[in-house]
Amino acid sequence: MKHATGLRLAGLALGAAVLAAPGIAEAQGNLTLYCTVQEEWCRAMVQAFEKKTGIKVAMTRKSSGELYAQVKAESANPKGDIWWGGTGDPHLQAAEEGLTEEYTSAMNKELHPWAIKQWEQSKKRTVGVYAGALGYGFNTKQIAEKKLAEPKCWSDLLDPKLKDEVQVADPNSSGTSYTMLATMVQLMGEEKGFDYLKKLHKNINQYTKSGAAPAKATSLGETTIGITFQHDLVTFVVQGAPIKVVAPCEGTGYEIGSMSLIKGAKNMKEAKTWYDWALTAEAQTIGGQAKAYQVPSNRNAKAPPQAPDFSKIKFIEYDFAKYGSSAERRRLLSKWDAEVKNLPK
Ligand code: F6P
Repeated sequence: MKHATGLRLAGLALGAAVLAAPGIAEAQGNLTLYCTVQEEWCRAMVQAFEKKTGIKVAMTRKSSGELYAQVKAESANPKGDIWWGGTGDPHLQAAEEGLTEEYTSAMNKELHPWAIKQWEQSKKRTVGVYAGALGYGFNTKQIAEKKLAEPKCWSDLLDPKLKDEVQVADPNSSGTSYTMLATMVQLMGEEKGFDYLKKLHKNINQYTKSGAAPAKATSLGETTIGITFQHDLVTFVVQGAPIKVVAPCEGTGYEIGSMSLIKGAKNMKEAKTWYDWALTAEAQTIGGQAKAYQVPSNRNAKAPPQAPDFSKIKFIEYDFAKYGSSAERRRLLSKWDAEVKNLPK
């Protein structure tokens, strides 16, 4: 008995000596990351963060609306620590509903005003990590083969010749598609905006779960036109896909991709380490390397050269406070479900 205890103690001492030995990485804690950008970028970020900090990351990737719903469903017993990426509206809704935690990072001083405005509007509960412009892309081969005119405006997508030729995500799961819904309402007024979406419905071949899926489908010619953020189309253009990216002539909406600490996070210290790091110029250059072409929120991080040129895009004054509010987002989504989703074609 005495002997066994002695052995155990010796084992513990040996374990401690091994951990302290130089050159052997010590485990520095764990982090559960909810990620809402492209899978490739999520993975590149995780890899760089683990290397830098020794913190082990368990990552789940989902769309913005889905992750908002998950954070809400888990709020009594949070499983995630930090929610990084995804359109700003659901982050703002989570902030208003008290699902996320206030935080002031020392990195705030390096951020663009639009990223800080997001933080101020959410009462310090979410911050901008990138920006992206909504638009659409068309497959140039399909357009030529089907002898269709090249679309330039939102209104062009209502052409009856485009029946079943357009793809976009479902705004319940996808932040991209919710951005489009809110953009139409702001651009045209609510009645005309919903009329537009009802007419567009006739030309939609599929409402996908993820916002970027129509970009891939456009690159493969599975759909002629895909409505997504412009940067998601660029990802395929740089790989040689026959896609032309369109910034619609009437003007368009945009996202402030955001990041929030989850209230009651089990690993809050590690979550804050991710938060501060993800706002550095160094971390924000990883996007371009992973074929993600959003505009970074850190003023010292250069946008990848392939990123859509914001100075050439006509933007609407997107009202994030209104369209990211809990009541308005819920109202618009139920209205879309009731009036658009199940309309006969
Ligand atoms: O693919 C990247 C991206 O477009 C982000 O810029 C955006 O925040 C997110 O995906 C939105 O994804 P979803 O529409 O699936 O919520």
